[in-house]
Amino acid sequence: MNVRKWMKRMVILDLLMLGLLFLIHSREEAAHAALETAGRSAAYADLEVGGQDAAYADLEVGGQSAATGGDGTKRIALTFDDGPHPRYTEKLLDGLKERGVHATFFVTGANAEKYPEIVKRMQEEGHLIGNHTYHHVQLTAANGEQFRKEIISTNEAIREITGEDTEYIRPPYGAWNKRYEEELNMFPVLWTIDPRDWCSDDASCIVRNTIGRVKENDIILMHDQYQSSIAAALEIVDELQEEGYEFVTVDELLFD
Ligand code: NI
Repeated sequence: MNVRKWMKRMVILDLLMLGLLFLIHSREEAAHAALETAGRSAAYADLEVGGQDAAYADLEVGGQSAATGGDGTKRIALTFDDGPHPRYTEKLLDGLKERGVHATFFVTGANAEKYPEIVKRMQEEGHLIGNHTYHHVQLTAANGEQFRKEIISTNEAIREITGEDTEYIRPPYGAWNKRYEEELNMFPVLWTIDPRDWCSDDASCIVRNTIGRVKENDIILMHDQYQSSIAAALEIVDELQEEGYEFVTVDELLFD
């Protein structure tokens, strides 16, 4: 082979190598970019949430520690947010008492201060009382300090009425930042079943939405803000008690 031909072949080989290197490099870049994007959206997810995904993600942790009752009963937790409500909460408390059921109430500080006697009654009848912020505030990237104050003032309102500290919080819309767990010693409680009781005034529809999906260790999200929710909750209790479920507070469900 003459020199010119040899040189030509070397140049072609070089070009091929260069092309290959370029390809490898750009693939690495793409992979790196993808990782960065994933990292960024994961970081945001912590704050934005508001949705089912985060609720489920967090609860998997809870789910792992959730244990079956010592005697093998299937346990489940009813939770009620946004109260107390001057008309509906006491009706609900009456119904739960009749059925021997303990539930968890995530109250707002503002409503707790307005209706302290209802909060007191919750405590006396063995329900668990949790924090739902003072003004029902959603945590965003911008309002961390306000959110922190909302948690603290609600804890104070609850302690003023019950004489006890609460460690449980249901962050409105599920938006939460883990830093408050250590900082304020609060444990976030999300949910596994959302029958969307607020968007239907048809109690039987809420009941069907729940009963069909329910399983052991579920945490059901409801609101003691509507007549239909109260009716649905009590019907859910009746049906699931018949199926052998025991209703417990969320601290029992997650930690006992
Ligand atoms: Ni709420």
